[in-house]
Amino acid sequence: MLPIVSMLCLVALTSATLPFKITDCSTSPNKIVRIENVHLSQDPVKIPGNETVTADVTILQSIAGTGHYNVSLRIQRHVFNGWVEAPCIHDFGSCSYDLCTVLSGKHYQNTTHHCPIEIAETSPDFECACPFPVGTYHLNPTTAHIDNLASYLKWLAQGDYKVEAKILDTTTHAEVGCFIVQATTASDCTGIQCIFGKRHEK
Ligand SMILES: *[C@@H]1O[C@H](CO)[C@@H](O)[C@H](O)[C@H]1NC(C)=O
Ligand SMILES: *[C@@H]1O[C@H](CO)[C@@H](O)[C@H](O)[C@H]1NC(C)=O
Ligand SMILES: *[C@@H]1O[C@H](CO)[C@@H](O)[C@H](O)[C@H]1NC(C)=O
Repeated sequence: MLPIVSMLCLVALTSATLPFKITDCSTSPNKIVRIENVHLSQDPVKIPGNETVTADVTILQSIAGTGHYNVSLRIQRHVFNGWVEAPCIHDFGSCSYDLCTVLSGKHYQNTTHHCPIEIAETSPDFECACPFPVGTYHLNPTTAHIDNLASYLKWLAQGDYKVEAKILDTTTHAEVGCFIVQATTASDCTGIQCIFGKRHEK
């Protein structure tokens, strides 16, 4: 589940305008996943920084493998008095993905449940890759090291974001999961790089 958890961890430095929050926006009677009790050690999220995350993830219907579910992301960034949607560029941004391809754990074939080593160490029972049996998984406090962004992306490290992740059944096209994550990210960049990410006051 790391990609979802790390998506939830987008975040900032001065006072947050958008406190970190996850809202379940699913209206489906066939919801497949519930995410609860997500807690971040640093809100706003600092880039670069070390973010310690806890969460409970409940799989309500087993998730077998590729082809059954898609996850469609909408990433919006606050600008002046509105929101702009990030485009989908090279599979990054507001894109649609196969859920089990995203959660393949292919970089972590040699850890328990194909989890990043940080999760394998703190939460040996946490599952990170398909197939997911029905059950509740607890992520114990786990620290993610968030790297600095490349210099041409630095202005992105400071801002207010809303991310909507919708899970669709690829056969029926029905929504079977929906989350809205809002978060503020902060960087300690200075000067021209930060102008576009300058915090708006409310
Ligand atoms: C994150 O933690 C590591 C080791 O605990 C430390 O070396 C590093 O400086 C920290 N990074 C930031 C940005 O605080
Ligand atoms: C699922 O996502 C793939 C791209 O990963 C896309 O080609 C396909 O059309 C999507 N299917 C549905 C039902 O949204
Ligand atoms: C396998 O695990 C070791 C540490 O246990 C790690 O250093 C290495 O990068 C891992 N390899 C892969 C492919 O994940």
